[in-house]
Amino acid sequence: MNHEKQYAPLGVFDSGVGGLTVAREIMRQLPQERIIYFGDTARVPYGTKSRETVTRYSRQIVHFLLGKGVKAIVVACNTASAFALEEIREELPVPIIGVVKPGAKVAAETTGNGIIGVIGTEATISSQLYTRTIHEHNPNAVVIGKACPLFVSLVEEGWLKDPITVAVAQRYLESFRQSGMDTLIMGCTHYPLLRSTLRGILGETVNLVNPAYETARGLKELLEGHGILNDGNGVCQGTKHQFYVSDAAEKFKNFANSILPCEIKEAQLIHIEE
Ligand code: DGL
Repeated sequence: MNHEKQYAPLGVFDSGVGGLTVAREIMRQLPQERIIYFGDTARVPYGTKSRETVTRYSRQIVHFLLGKGVKAIVVACNTASAFALEEIREELPVPIIGVVKPGAKVAAETTGNGIIGVIGTEATISSQLYTRTIHEHNPNAVVIGKACPLFVSLVEEGWLKDPITVAVAQRYLESFRQSGMDTLIMGCTHYPLLRSTLRGILGETVNLVNPAYETARGLKELLEGHGILNDGNGVCQGTKHQFYVSDAAEKFKNFANSILPCEIKEAQLIHIEE
């Protein structure tokens, strides 16, 4: 056990509020861990940007988090996981985990009929990382991807069950209608916030996969493997979790307080490019 490091915080980041669905799951499954969260609210969305840009943004954020002394990093963004994770991993002195591979693995292993839908940003879908990873675990699976770019703005706006959101979701999910899929991966960390809207349209027969759950489980294994899982016996100095954003701190804080199990008092604004 690495005593010095086990009490250090985890770094978690996303382009905005979506990664809070992953932070929430980490808080549930690993309540002893401390989180330093960064939401790149000034530059959201990532899903319409190029691999180079998403990698540059991710690298800046990872360096910010390393400066805060994090012991491991969770890329709580499918787009950054698909575009930047592998390149950045090689540069890091700490372990890093993304959301795509854990989500793909559980879908591949739990589908009954082998027909899996994936919804995500344009970047995530075009990267084909879900399809490739599903096929590593289940070579015969049929994977149908659909980019749903409007979902991110609707979630950032807080319109989780708004009739407009329902209409947009109906339009996007139309393409799955004849597919026979039994599993749908919510392949963007913003989308689990639309779960009840998606459930209302798809009915009860489709299994909705939230990769956050498997990511938190994978994170536990990763921390254990490195001997840095927090045993909860350390003295926590200051606020347990810390939140940083690149814009609109108050709006972020209010959103976070509507979905997290703990109250956050402050989201600090920083200039990530400096
Ligand atoms: N929530 C992020 C994802 O999982 C990114 C959404 C975006 O910024 O476009 O892909």
